[in-house]
Amino acid sequence: MTPPVHPDIAHLSNLIGTWRGTGAGEYPTIESFRYVEEVTIGHVGKPFLAYSQKTRHAETDHPLHAEQGYFRPVGLDQLELVVAQPSGIVEVHEGTIDGGEIELASVIVATSSTAKEVTTVRRCLTVDGDTMRYEVDMGAVGQPLQHHLRAELSRVPS
Ligand code: HEM
Repeated sequence: MTPPVHPDIAHLSNLIGTWRGTGAGEYPTIESFRYVEEVTIGHVGKPFLAYSQKTRHAETDHPLHAEQGYFRPVGLDQLELVVAQPSGIVEVHEGTIDGGEIELASVIVATSSTAKEVTTVRRCLTVDGDTMRYEVDMGAVGQPLQHHLRAELSRVPS
């Protein structure tokens, strides 16, 4: 049985659920691509949200990026995100929440010795009813901070 949402994450409860949709990615060093995505955000009654994401190429259906992490609110208007990727990259973010709008900037990005170089990541995410939109900017592989991803997902009815 799912426990009640912890009061400290009540203002984030509109994120909870499964979300599916499509996105597009680009960067000066790679070919642009389109992807389909599924995001699951859940809770266990404690004051954090568990986040899990996986993507596939929109044309070839090959698995692409995936990541998992946790959102942790700090009071009502700030929050932290830790997120790990199978490509050897770990991001620690801090940012703000204002209604349905979350803005996060990395305070540290750690990479394994074989991972691609990533120095900075910014993530903006909005939830408007049953629609989630996000953008990800990154500074990576010698390039300055700039756009990498944009996606729009819809809440999967439970
Ligand atoms: C929806 C999520 C994402 C998708 C679908 C995605 C997809 C891709 C694809 C298809 C490539 C080009 C091929 C490759 O190198 O694998 C790529 C490159 C890359 N992505 Fe992403 N990515 C996502 C999220 C991220 C995030 C969150 C980061 C870092 C924080 C990141 C960092 C990179 C880097 C460093 C490269 C290599 C660029 C290069 O080698 O020139 N990606 N991504």
